[in-house]
Amino acid sequence: MSSVRRAQTLSALREQFDAVLEPGPHGYYAGGSGDEVTLAANERAWSEYSIHPSVMVDVSRRDPSVELLGRRMPHPLICAPFAYHRLAWPDGECATALGCGQANATYCLSTLATSRPAEVATAAPGTHRWFQIYVFKDRAVTDDLVAEAVDNGFEALVLTVDLPVLGKRERDIQNNFTIGDAELVPGVAAAGGKGLISMQDTADLIDPSLTWKDVERFAAQSPLPVIVKGILRPDDARKAIASGARGVVVSNHGGRQLDCVPATARVLPSIAEEVNSEVALIVDGGIRRGTDVLIALALGADAVMVGRPILWGLAAEGATGVETAFEILIDEFDRALALSGCPAAADLSEHDHLVTPAKRSAL
Ligand code: GLV
Repeated sequence: MSSVRRAQTLSALREQFDAVLEPGPHGYYAGGSGDEVTLAANERAWSEYSIHPSVMVDVSRRDPSVELLGRRMPHPLICAPFAYHRLAWPDGECATALGCGQANATYCLSTLATSRPAEVATAAPGTHRWFQIYVFKDRAVTDDLVAEAVDNGFEALVLTVDLPVLGKRERDIQNNFTIGDAELVPGVAAAGGKGLISMQDTADLIDPSLTWKDVERFAAQSPLPVIVKGILRPDDARKAIASGARGVVVSNHGGRQLDCVPATARVLPSIAEEVNSEVALIVDGGIRRGTDVLIALALGADAVMVGRPILWGLAAEGATGVETAFEILIDEFDRALALSGCPAAADLSEHDHLVTPAKRSAL
């Protein structure tokens, strides 16, 4: 048995991630923007809700499954899109996709991946795959990547809308962090990236002029459901739906874009009210516990995306570590379903007063 197999907690995986990564990639992944106010708020905000369990409920059978975009998923956990997996593990995104498949989790591949969509599909054909999109200034590059994802069995497109320019990430500036040669990132190389590139160089290739009109056109032309990621306001959720999105992700980009925006746990209830089950509702940001997953679903999310914990697993032990990170969260979620007296994940939002605000911090 490997050491990661024995990891029982995400903090144990995080310690391995802290130990193995060089300061440059470590700062890139762990860091946020500005004073990292939102980065910290994301994690804290889930614990600012209380769970009010019902006792003496038969919980001998639990059902963690949820329905999303017409598919029943065995649990509500999805691997969030994040960039440059080969900085954390030699097989990069292929290892992540395999680990996701072993945990029955959907994997969302980033446009800024160090592996092509076709490679990931070949490495992990049994894994449910989504493709995340940044729209490059050279739109043909984005069109080609999307076509490759569509041809290779990806099931949804996740359009990130909160990175018209890069948030100011001081850890990267201090570390003078570069990703490596642009050729390591096929999308970036195709979009015109050359030589040693930083995240700032990469972001400079992304089109900052996008508006809801582009989302409308994109959703109308897409053969796959389009999910809009990066929503923090109910009126923007409504605009996403009106533009043809089949889902929205309540997200502040893991505290990496505009600092001082609210924690996602705080804005989720008002967005859930607006969305009113019309489209899929996903949330990410600071999910570190099975109880966080339970709170998210009780507040109206259909599923959650998890980013950094999956990266900790990847950096610690590749596909096995990814699987372990999911297993830890799934086990904790199962315990939370039983101990809250709500054995079916899909019913969590129907339970009266299951989750209430406990205390509130500034964000
Ligand atoms: C990429 O999406 C990043 O946030 O660095």
